[in-house]
Amino acid sequence: MRLVRLIANLGYGSRKEVAQMFRAGRVTDTDGEVLYADDQVEASSIRVDGAPLDPGSGLVLMLHKPVGYTCSHRDPGQLVYDLLPPRFARRRPPLSSIGRLDRDTSGLLLLTDDGALLHRLIAPVSCVSKVYVATLAQDLRGDEADLFASGRLLLEGEAKPLAPAMLEACGPRRVRITVTEGRYHQVRRMFAAVGNHVQALHREAVAGLSLGTLPPGAWRELEGGERALLGGNHQPGVTQAKTPG
Ligand code: URA
Repeated sequence: MRLVRLIANLGYGSRKEVAQMFRAGRVTDTDGEVLYADDQVEASSIRVDGAPLDPGSGLVLMLHKPVGYTCSHRDPGQLVYDLLPPRFARRRPPLSSIGRLDRDTSGLLLLTDDGALLHRLIAPVSCVSKVYVATLAQDLRGDEADLFASGRLLLEGEAKPLAPAMLEACGPRRVRITVTEGRYHQVRRMFAAVGNHVQALHREAVAGLSLGTLPPGAWRELEGGERALLGGNHQPGVTQAKTPG
């Protein structure tokens, strides 16, 4: 790919603006030698204003989503994309969240510009495990773990029961719950179905990946081993895709 297009697709500017950056000598190699738009160099050797280029396409990020941010690209309030460098919003292909968290839910959100990965992970058959910690308004009744594990729980307005989910009580009003589906407001609706109310919800892990020490509002690129957890059919954390029938 020609350098102007490569750098423009990473959101550094329009092709015209990037061509101007070359003319201004802002694009160099690792030794500070000025590069020209028709040079043939590896992306890893390119510097813009002395800094390495952002990662190329195929990017996967983890973000510690704070409460109060929405996963939409367009919304009147604060967006998760506002937590990333502004030029990421101009990347082509665009970054999208892999599934969504509600505005009032915090925790691990994955984002990618890899359309195939995105569609594979959000497909209903993908069975990616997601672990949430919920704080409840009322004490547990005692039968929730069995009901959630039964594969018979129906959410209001739905005809298909939920796949079995695992509930671990961490206190009378605090639970850790592992689900493999991604239905709309799923965890909140599961507790509504048993007469309770989720007061706070935090996602700890997705597909075996966890936030570690990443603070709220911060993000980082996935490392190779972490990326491998999301790929292929036999990786821990991602159960093999089920084929209908
Ligand atoms: N379930 C919910 O209810 N909300 C989320 O954000 C994620 C799962």
